[in-house]
Amino acid sequence: MISAHLTIDPHFTIGPINRRLFGSFVEHLGRCVYDGIYEPGHESADEEGFRTDVIDLVRELGVSTIRYPGGNFVSGYRWEDGVGPRESRPRRLDLAWHSTETNEIGLDEFTRWLTKVDSELMYAVNLGTRGILEALDVLEYANLRSGTQWSDGRVANGHPEPHGIRMWCLGNEMDGPWQLGHSTAEEYGQLAAKTARAMRQIDPDLELVVCGSSSAQMPTFGDWERVVLSHTYDDVDYISCHAYYEPLGDDYGSFLASGVNMDRFIDAVVATADHVKAVRRSEKTIDISFDEWNVWYQSRFNEVDKITHPTHWPVAPRLLEDSYSVLDAVVFGSLLISLIRHADRVTAASLAQLVNVIAPIMTEPGGPAWRQTTFYPFSLTSRLARGVALELKLDSPTYPTELYGDVPIVDAVATRDEEGGATTVFIVNRSLAEEVSLEIDVLSLGQIASATAQTLSDDDIHAANTLEDPERVAPRVNSSARIGEGVITVTLPPVSWTVLTFD
Ligand code: AHR
Repeated sequence: MISAHLTIDPHFTIGPINRRLFGSFVEHLGRCVYDGIYEPGHESADEEGFRTDVIDLVRELGVSTIRYPGGNFVSGYRWEDGVGPRESRPRRLDLAWHSTETNEIGLDEFTRWLTKVDSELMYAVNLGTRGILEALDVLEYANLRSGTQWSDGRVANGHPEPHGIRMWCLGNEMDGPWQLGHSTAEEYGQLAAKTARAMRQIDPDLELVVCGSSSAQMPTFGDWERVVLSHTYDDVDYISCHAYYEPLGDDYGSFLASGVNMDRFIDAVVATADHVKAVRRSEKTIDISFDEWNVWYQSRFNEVDKITHPTHWPVAPRLLEDSYSVLDAVVFGSLLISLIRHADRVTAASLAQLVNVIAPIMTEPGGPAWRQTTFYPFSLTSRLARGVALELKLDSPTYPTELYGDVPIVDAVATRDEEGGATTVFIVNRSLAEEVSLEIDVLSLGQIASATAQTLSDDDIHAANTLEDPERVAPRVNSSARIGEGVITVTLPPVSWTVLTFD
């Protein structure tokens, strides 16, 4: 068995954990909205057509903020198609996903649904095929009480109270050649700055997110952030990061080390934002909104799912419906560790996505809803990561990877809830074959009264929850956790994610 050692000292804090770190993302894509959150004919549907079994699971997941309505979808979207009487809403081609959009659900319905799941809306405007005026119109519709064409329109549509949206994304992935209206960093930076300044004339306190790169692998990565921020620095609050991970062939060693890549990505974007800050002699600091992250088997999508005949673009087709294994959930848990480790600069994040589309929650039309393996690291981290993130001293043996060099076998982060007194450690064992005996030095935390551990692992790392077997995988109590003199020990199975809480 491998040994690793961890020291926790509550004095070494990284920063407060913003609840917005546990956000998610609902795009008009595949069956995320239609046949996902909304299925009027379903036996669990409420009077507004929303599936209450899905609402219950979203609440259990513990999602703080939800980004909407896209994604790539937003770059062809006309927001006003989705408000007003349903019978007069147009059907449109969705060029991003080669589907037909019925517009049955739009801004007003989605805000209704958000009150049921107790989440905040983060709204993306279309800066791909539209511009400043349409961004101002939707802001006026959503946030102005009344007395103008758009705000009175919202009242007439049955929503007397403004939606009060605080966070706004200025477009989506504008660096990507696949994006409708794809631009250079110069073009996008100028448009984003003008849009931000115009929106702030209506409300100077909005929180605005400018698009960073669609991934750290983009050829323009780094330069994109520098140029875009040099135009927008004074007018925005966040720059976005997006990252998706999948194994290349059977290189599970590198896949398990995806968190290392996420750490480096965040550090590079922070360095670039701070470079622009220095050049501008600015007092202001730009934070990161990591508003798309997940495991996504994109190679499968490219081969199997792309619909190519424009005459038959379907409504809500099955797209991007990845089934997640134990291996995927362990990588997913390590991505959450990376986000928390950067809590001082990553102050918002959105798991992409929420239902059916690369999602922790799956549904069957007319059938059940169930939790994927990735549901558990998210729900437990969202529930237990409270207070401040702590800097740890971690001594772990390493293993060689194809993509990232030598990587620690164990990765971990801790959080401490000063009000409740609980300390929680989130840990992954990346070894494919070996158990790890982890010793945690907790001397500086004082007397430990109790310690409980839960672990997600399985003899079959490819085990998954499916329609036929929805409860195949779930975290189990890890009974190896022991309290000693100033130490806690726990055994971590190979390819596992563990959460350990002590008071
Ligand atoms: O989440 C799926 C897609 O991934 C989003 O629409 C897009 O922004 C990203 O490329």
